[in-house]
Amino acid sequence: MKKNNMKTLPGLFLSFGIIFSLAFSGKCPAQSKMSGTSAMIGTEMAVFYPPEFKSGEMLPSFALLKEPVQQGGIKKGWKVFPKFYIDGKGNNCIAIPVEKGTDLYGTGEVTGGLRRNGKKIMLWNTDNPGYHIGKGNVLYQTHPWILAVRKDGSAYGVLVDNTWKQSIDLSDSIKVVSYGPAARVIIVERNTPQKVVEELADLTGHMQMPPLWALGYQQSRWSYYPDSRVREVASQFRKRKIPCDVIWMDIHYMQDYKIFTFDSLRFPDPLGLNKYLHSINFRSVWMIDPGVKKQKGYFVYDQGSAGNYWIQTPQGKEFNGSVWPGPCAFPDFTMPQVRKWWSGLYKDYMAQGIDGVWNDMNEPSVFNVESKTMPEDNIQRGGGNLPKDIHLRYHNVFGMLMIKATREGILKANPDKRPFVLSRASYIGGQRYAATWTGDNMSTWSHLKMSIPMVLNLGLSGQPFSGPDIGGFIGSPDKDLFANWIAIGPFYPFCRNHTTVNSANQEPWAYGREVEDISRRALDRRYMLMPYIYTLFCQASVTGLPVMRPVFFADPKDRSLRSEDRAFMLGGDLIIVPRWAENPALPKGIWKEISLLSPKAPEDGYQPKMLQRGGSIIPTAGIIQSTADFKTDSLTLLVCFDKHGKAEGLMYGDAGEGFGYLKGHYVVDKFTAVKMQDGKISFSCIPGQGDYDNELKYFRIAVPSSGGMVYSSWMNKSKFVVKMPKK
Ligand code: GLC
Repeated sequence: MKKNNMKTLPGLFLSFGIIFSLAFSGKCPAQSKMSGTSAMIGTEMAVFYPPEFKSGEMLPSFALLKEPVQQGGIKKGWKVFPKFYIDGKGNNCIAIPVEKGTDLYGTGEVTGGLRRNGKKIMLWNTDNPGYHIGKGNVLYQTHPWILAVRKDGSAYGVLVDNTWKQSIDLSDSIKVVSYGPAARVIIVERNTPQKVVEELADLTGHMQMPPLWALGYQQSRWSYYPDSRVREVASQFRKRKIPCDVIWMDIHYMQDYKIFTFDSLRFPDPLGLNKYLHSINFRSVWMIDPGVKKQKGYFVYDQGSAGNYWIQTPQGKEFNGSVWPGPCAFPDFTMPQVRKWWSGLYKDYMAQGIDGVWNDMNEPSVFNVESKTMPEDNIQRGGGNLPKDIHLRYHNVFGMLMIKATREGILKANPDKRPFVLSRASYIGGQRYAATWTGDNMSTWSHLKMSIPMVLNLGLSGQPFSGPDIGGFIGSPDKDLFANWIAIGPFYPFCRNHTTVNSANQEPWAYGREVEDISRRALDRRYMLMPYIYTLFCQASVTGLPVMRPVFFADPKDRSLRSEDRAFMLGGDLIIVPRWAENPALPKGIWKEISLLSPKAPEDGYQPKMLQRGGSIIPTAGIIQSTADFKTDSLTLLVCFDKHGKAEGLMYGDAGEGFGYLKGHYVVDKFTAVKMQDGKISFSCIPGQGDYDNELKYFRIAVPSSGGMVYSSWMNKSKFVVKMPKK
């Protein structure tokens, strides 16, 4: 972690807090004022307006936290210029030539490999089970963003500030077609791809620190019911000593799939259930979809109808489309009073002891129609500074507006807790409000492999907190596939096992003893790495750097790494190599294989290899059953020396919940290790800024060697010189 960033942590967090409330409230610039113009809007950052640009059709921006301030004309030597033109079909287009040897990434949640050159992507949030529609080139989220890395490792980012339906074609250049009005483009130039991604977070917003429990392992299925089954699954984890933090409630908990209700037979006492789950250190996340069952007498429908809150047909009538409950009405989240109402619904709901909220089907998905969503000419009435317009304009931000209101609602209901929202649909910048998962993947090898570039490209598009359904959603994985998937699982930022209705059981013990042991080992590794993972989440929230990163981040100049998407990085100091990744491209320099589990734990052939960067120190803690037991009092520090015999690392700590960290109640410990001439190691831990006491007491050093890890004895001081035993 960069020290200067950590220094300003509370200040940064606070300013993010203020910025969040400004989103969507910036003043629209005067109509057409900037047509055909361009300007610098920061260091090495410029905005370009097409001649046809009309602010009333495009602003306020949903992507940007604030309107860019123009700082004079494009500077001399500027390299990347978009060309605006209208194609034969009358569509507004943008073309940016791409130099040979430039590798393209980003574009959000997409199928295929990490490198995006050659891909064509449609940006139109779509419920796409199994990723079959449009060959998977149209998914649940919209990220009009391309990260380009030149031959020499320098990089630029292209952000098309456009919510309307559009497509990106990366066949031989960057070509973006808007199926709506002409959009402006922001271009960010930096020396490294990392710096471009950091700037993207400054432009579109940073993820806020999630509660620590949301970083634990999570168990889900469509659906665990009745409540006795939920209790049974949760208690099995404790009995079998497989760590787990969260259990998920899918749609069967609702009465007739009516949101904000509980089935009177299956879930008669949600508060009692949550109390039980809390008593065994589980948290629960419950699903809320946007479709509201059209039924007079149902309080959500009645309230929405009384307020005139529903999206309308072009004729100004309530629009109805079918989702799980049958015919539904859909809240018009562009209307400020609707978002306020929606937020308010969470008060009584969260009072049932619910810890987190899962917003699904929010593309929005509509069944039994070819388009899979509502008509593009439906009317959304807006309000505040959002103009009234057709659904085509607001479709891609329907989910984002919903999760903004959800987040605000659960924060209001529990003002002392960090909100946790998971959303399927989103738009660039959605990391401000929710984590995400990659929707309805399949229990196949190709989807296991593809989950890695999907999570990587989401990270390169501003969303650091994502993961796929571990084990795959559609279908049932065989023993070998599940074992391989759960072994990778701990290294996804969001680590949740989920499966579809009526599929085979997918809990870690469902495949017999061998896979249960493999799962336990895998999840133990995540919990042991928690001090490092938590630090990475802090880093992501402060700097915008993803938690899971492509291997080429280790050396952006090394072009041989640019396509590697089987191996990946967890933070800057670890490379994870799945067992099935043959001959992965790995960076030069010192990267040593490490092991977390005691030397006695058998090598099971499934756990990915972990390589540690020379010069780094990775803090690890003991095996626990949930983050409720997380402690940093006894740290094992994995030390991998650089060629000068030096290593250092940082560890972020805070209460794991609440907002004390914004007032300085956090700590950043700095670890240093030096190999001395006599072979001994001199170690020190110096607490940095912040006043949080993370109760560090015992330290030991673990050094990778050819025969496995070598451990020092435990020391109960923060500065010591220690002789490592011979292996
Ligand atoms: C959607 C979601 C899936 C969920 C199901 C039922 O398909 O993507 O995760 O289980 O709906 O709610």
